[in-house]
Amino acid sequence: MPPPLRSRAASQPEAPLLEVVNLTVRFGSPVGEVHAVEGVSISVGAGETVGIIGESGSGKTVACMSMTWLLPSPPARYLSGRITFKGEELRRNDEAQLRKVRGSGVGMIFQNARLSFNPAYRLGRQIEEVLRVQLGRSARAMLPEMVQTLRYCNIAEPEAVLGKFPHEVSGGVAQRVSIALALLSRPDLLIADEPTTALDLLSQIEVLSLLARLRDESGLSLVLVSHDLGVVRRIADRVIIMYAGRVVEEGPASAIFAAPRHPYTQGLLASALQQGDGERLYEVPGTPPDLASLPPGCSFRPRCPFAFDRCVTMPELAPAGATHQARCHLLERATEHA
Ligand SMILES: Nc1ncnc2c1ncn2[C@@H]1O[C@H](COP(=O)(O)OP(=O)(O)O)[C@@H](O)[C@H]1O
Ligand code: SF4
Ligand SMILES: [Mg+2]
Repeated sequence: MPPPLRSRAASQPEAPLLEVVNLTVRFGSPVGEVHAVEGVSISVGAGETVGIIGESGSGKTVACMSMTWLLPSPPARYLSGRITFKGEELRRNDEAQLRKVRGSGVGMIFQNARLSFNPAYRLGRQIEEVLRVQLGRSARAMLPEMVQTLRYCNIAEPEAVLGKFPHEVSGGVAQRVSIALALLSRPDLLIADEPTTALDLLSQIEVLSLLARLRDESGLSLVLVSHDLGVVRRIADRVIIMYAGRVVEEGPASAIFAAPRHPYTQGLLASALQQGDGERLYEVPGTPPDLASLPPGCSFRPRCPFAFDRCVTMPELAPAGATHQARCHLLERATEHA
């Protein structure tokens, strides 16, 4: 396995850079209300890398986009949630404040960078437009910095790349261009939603190493979303496991990977080990729940090999060690039997 890329942030500082408290987001659907994110709290410290893992449909993207209230409402229904960034509450209806935070405080990069660019325009033109709208700066004034940032992101011939259309560059180059674009506004926090998922192995390693390097060199905080256990394992200081819209386990990466406490996390790790390379997030037996008709009690119950009578009620996220939490009734049972 390649060496870990964890940050130098030894522990979470006292005042988080970003704090999401009790976020609940739902969507209407013809078959019922989709409980996409339920009571999720996430905090990210300065210079810290927080990895969010969960299978498809577990609410990772909705949670990340809600961090700067980016999802339009409707269709999203925000039932609860308080978000603070650098100690200031982000107000959902304060467009001027949100534009400023999205433009310079929090950068976002997505899974398929090529698709996030408009296919009809050259990359340089699109970057110019973003700079003009977000930063109010002209491309001419920013050109040297733009070229330098692209070079920093391992783009060998920045001027040539700026002259290309999105389909003329590889997925890895497009992703590095989107990272460079996010960096131009000098964010304090970068939210990367599955940034390596659509890439070949070599590009995955390049993009991940780049994210780790810029975090270490600029003190940037990173939220890294992935369904790939290997990616998160290599880079995250702290890990959040999501299942069916809820956080089911959270703690330092070292604690989670050494001693997972939730049966879902245990299943993920066991299946990764069974595959032999311990690198990816493999499937836990059974199918993910339908978020429009969740079973009563613990959402993992239909797939859980340890389910018992108490699991018909929803467990709370409870301490599973000094800095580690899990949402499972087995924790209480262990305490009762201790
Ligand atoms: N615009 C939307 N309208 C309706 N449902 C949505 C919308 N966006 C997301 N969802 C639903 O929210 C749930 C969580 O989705 P998402 O956050 O994208 O999951 P993940 O990123 O973990 O794969 C899914 O059931 C998805 O179908
Ligand atoms: S609460 Fe029960 S069903 Fe849920 S993960 Fe724990 S043991 Fe399994
Ligand atoms: Mg997603």
